[in-house]
Amino acid sequence: MKKIAVLPGDGIGPEVTAQAIKVLQAVADLYGHDFAFEEGLIGAAAIDATGNPFPEATETLCRQADAILFGAIGDPKYDNDPSAKVRPEQGLLRMRKNLGLFANIRPVTTYEALASISPLKDEIIRGVDFVVFRELTGGIYFGEPRGRSEDGQSAFDSCVYAGYEIERIARLAFAAAQKRSGRLTLVDKANVLATSRLWREKVTALAADYPDVTLDFMFVDNAAMQIIQNPAGFDVVLTENMFGDILTDEASVISGSLGLLPSASVGSGVGLFEPIHGSYPQVAGQNRANPVGAILSAAMLLEYAFDLHQEAAAVRAAVTVAINQGYSTEDLNKTGGYGTREVGDKIVELIKTKELV
Ligand code: IPM
Ligand code: MN
Repeated sequence: MKKIAVLPGDGIGPEVTAQAIKVLQAVADLYGHDFAFEEGLIGAAAIDATGNPFPEATETLCRQADAILFGAIGDPKYDNDPSAKVRPEQGLLRMRKNLGLFANIRPVTTYEALASISPLKDEIIRGVDFVVFRELTGGIYFGEPRGRSEDGQSAFDSCVYAGYEIERIARLAFAAAQKRSGRLTLVDKANVLATSRLWREKVTALAADYPDVTLDFMFVDNAAMQIIQNPAGFDVVLTENMFGDILTDEASVISGSLGLLPSASVGSGVGLFEPIHGSYPQVAGQNRANPVGAILSAAMLLEYAFDLHQEAAAVRAAVTVAINQGYSTEDLNKTGGYGTREVGDKIVELIKTKELV
């Protein structure tokens, strides 16, 4: 039996996570696996219940699990209150740090049926298929010192990276490039930042261990442009925490919706799987959110945490068919679209046909 810790979180988190669980349950039934799901609190939901955005009980649940399925975090009541002492996001950041989830893997793919949804031209998005390795537990998100000056009139954050933090994620990115087309692009700002120069130094040194990988470098401002202008030019992208955060939101535009993109966060122990979108409170509880990012995150869970490649492929194939047949939520469907649950049901039904892979 495999234990899956489920952290639905805030906003649309619970409803998209419910669809991902439905999919995992269908896979378990169909392929003869036994998954046990156990829920934990995180984010604003956890602050409301316990005062802590990442309660100890949740951390224990995660540490004892074989994988973590996570929904979304964030609540507008904190966003508009700069004086709030506890924030939902702290729960997510602490979880990443405490569980050693240093590599966030975010694949970007396209769907034929969605070519007209993307604001980018058909010929630009055709065949786009790349993956971003975003460092997740270092950089400006965690660097010290941070805070306010004594008089409160200035504020500061620190971007800090140690060599080992760069090397451990770089090795994962090199290995991924070996399995794909053999190209790795390090995105940085080495013309300005000392941390970026350390990234270049460490990654360049590692390249000797991966002679079959071609390494190139790109400044992040240029990368932001290239992602829109020539996204098919990327294969494996390696970058630091904040650049990766920004570039992957941007990259989601290529697919057609932020609601489509999944991610895996891996590191020294248990892995965590979550859609890259936020809590989207405006539509929470209305059965309107796109569950595909969460469902594809479940596929990544099957693959990365459980080594169930055929099962993961079955989920991805079902998602592709559902999208191509027009079974998608309002963000992708100009004529109204289907509800969160209905899309989840359709994908489960397609997985059950088992003829897709
Ligand atoms: C993400 C999110 C988080 C981040 C927020 C919610 C702290 O935007 O997972 O990309 O910035 O890492
Ligand atoms: Mn983000």
